[in-house]
Amino acid sequence: MPITLLDSVAAMQQHSLALRTKGKRLGFVPTMGYLHEGHTSLMQLLRPRCDVLVASIFVNPMQFGPHEDLSRYPRDLERDQQLCEAAGCDVIFHPTPQEIYPAGFHTHVAVEYLAETLCGPWRPGHFHGVATVVAKLFNIVMPHVAAFGQKDAQQATIIKQMVRDLNFPIDIVIGPTIREADGLAKSSRNVYLSPEERLEATSLYGALSLGKSMIEKDARDPAVVVAAMRQHLEQHMRAPEIQYVEIVNTRDLHPVEKIEGEILMALAVRLGKTRLIDNFMLKV
Ligand code: PAJ
Repeated sequence: MPITLLDSVAAMQQHSLALRTKGKRLGFVPTMGYLHEGHTSLMQLLRPRCDVLVASIFVNPMQFGPHEDLSRYPRDLERDQQLCEAAGCDVIFHPTPQEIYPAGFHTHVAVEYLAETLCGPWRPGHFHGVATVVAKLFNIVMPHVAAFGQKDAQQATIIKQMVRDLNFPIDIVIGPTIREADGLAKSSRNVYLSPEERLEATSLYGALSLGKSMIEKDARDPAVVVAAMRQHLEQHMRAPEIQYVEIVNTRDLHPVEKIEGEILMALAVRLGKTRLIDNFMLKV
């Protein structure tokens, strides 16, 4: 059967309700499109766990800051449709901004505390925009299970918290970060990188790998590991704007004083006009 493309909230809700009434289990992968293997890996992860798989493609204006890349965010619906189909999706929900935010829209979902660290201070309002649109998409698609990527670890933690706090009856599954051969995490934004920047961009993975090997060799002081990771970035990039390099606990994403238990090493770097993030999760 060809993939079903729905663009209105009413049509998507009707479709989901009819399937739920028939006892079908719905899986959901929200995306902003310009799909790559990071996205399709989440679809493949959910495919065996549901009867009907829905992907959304919506470049959510609410999660972009006034000086961010909303207008130039890459888009290619035709290609995305083929990738969704190949990854086993049954339905694509592809609404317009007006459909999601009609005139007179006034409600926001703010997951506090978790949004205050890491990317939070660098992208004011970003996680409110993410939580709001994901809450709306959950109410529109009504899935039983939804998948998010570890690549955006803070986003995944915030969504899990929102689901807990607001009692969404949805299982959240987190898929591993999919990388290029040289370690760079796949991202729709990688197309912005010039050939030189693309080469330098592997040093994010390099810095994380260095931190990991230090911790495996018993480094326990986060300040020491972070300093070495920063130095690695500075030595391997010409003019990086290092926004943060942090070691936080995975529960609340706040910095640890000693490296122990389950930790997240996370960093964000601006390379020219492109902002890149990456992380490793470690059990120490
Ligand atoms: P987007 O950046 O398109 O990512 C959609 C999903 O794919 C997210 O769960 C993200 O973590 C995951 N993903 C992206 N790159 C990945 C990679 N290299 N490996 C594994 N998973 C990866 O994240 C968003 O869109 C938006 O914020 C959204 C949740 C759709 C809300 O607008």
